Amino acid sequence: MKNTVATFAKMKAQGEKISMLTCYDYSTAKLEEAAGINAVLVGDSLGNVMLGLPDTLSVTMEDMITFGRAVSRGCHDTMVVIDMPFMSYQVSIEQAVMNAGRLMKEGRGNAVKLEGGATVCPQIKAITSAGIPVMAHLGMTPQSVNAFGGNRVQGKSEEAARQMIEDALAVQAAGAFAVVLECVPAKLAALITAKLDIPTIGIGAGEGCDGQILVYQDMLGLFSDYTPKFVKHFAELGEKMQAAFKAYDEEVKAGTFPDASHSFKIDDDVMERLY
Ligand code: KIV
Repeated sequence: MKNTVATFAKMKAQGEKISMLTCYDYSTAKLEEAAGINAVLVGDSLGNVMLGLPDTLSVTMEDMITFGRAVSRGCHDTMVVIDMPFMSYQVSIEQAVMNAGRLMKEGRGNAVKLEGGATVCPQIKAITSAGIPVMAHLGMTPQSVNAFGGNRVQGKSEEAARQMIEDALAVQAAGAFAVVLECVPAKLAALITAKLDIPTIGIGAGEGCDGQILVYQDMLGLFSDYTPKFVKHFAELGEKMQAAFKAYDEEVKAGTFPDASHSFKIDDDVMERLY
């Protein structure tokens, strides 16, 4: 059965943990769905892990639509959330609604995600009023990396922690159906989780959140540029892939691949007439 915003609300009410992973392509979407992941995020982290960019700032609406559409084709029961890229919702409420609409119509998402607290509540209200579910994102919000002066844990001082609690309550009041908490001290994330009716999805925010999300390349050991403290490798697929690429390279160069079992036949009499 399709996971929806109602599934998120029910899972929070029943104390069931919500699993999310990022996803950027059709084949991986099918694997994540088969594994029982509740929702996938077509994250603008695709800028880093798919496009090799240093941050998420250059990711475009067209990028999000292309990758979102691919993921949506692979998901039947899994909910698909698509990130609103940098500057697609900050400039005006009208642009935010238009762009959220494009991610639903063209990207075939089931919801959108945007970064920020009280300052983006007018956008959250307008987008949800258009019938588009919004996931909020607080804490270390990568689109603000320059304002933060790097990727840093957020909410450590009393003032910053109080601000984050207020922001969480504000995005909930504006209509968000869930909120991602990224790089937030575990005890603060647990407190926010207890204060909210909507689910919190943690990434580097401890075990007290209602659900968890990781970038799939990180948890599979596929991305080696940097590894944040909160990442656990559930497999070392990077090593396995490299070994397979090496075996292929060796067999091609030795002439042992392809062999007869990987080749197509033609009748000998047809061949004879060609000489
Ligand atoms: O873009 C992304 O992958 C994200 C997650 C880190 C939550 O926003």
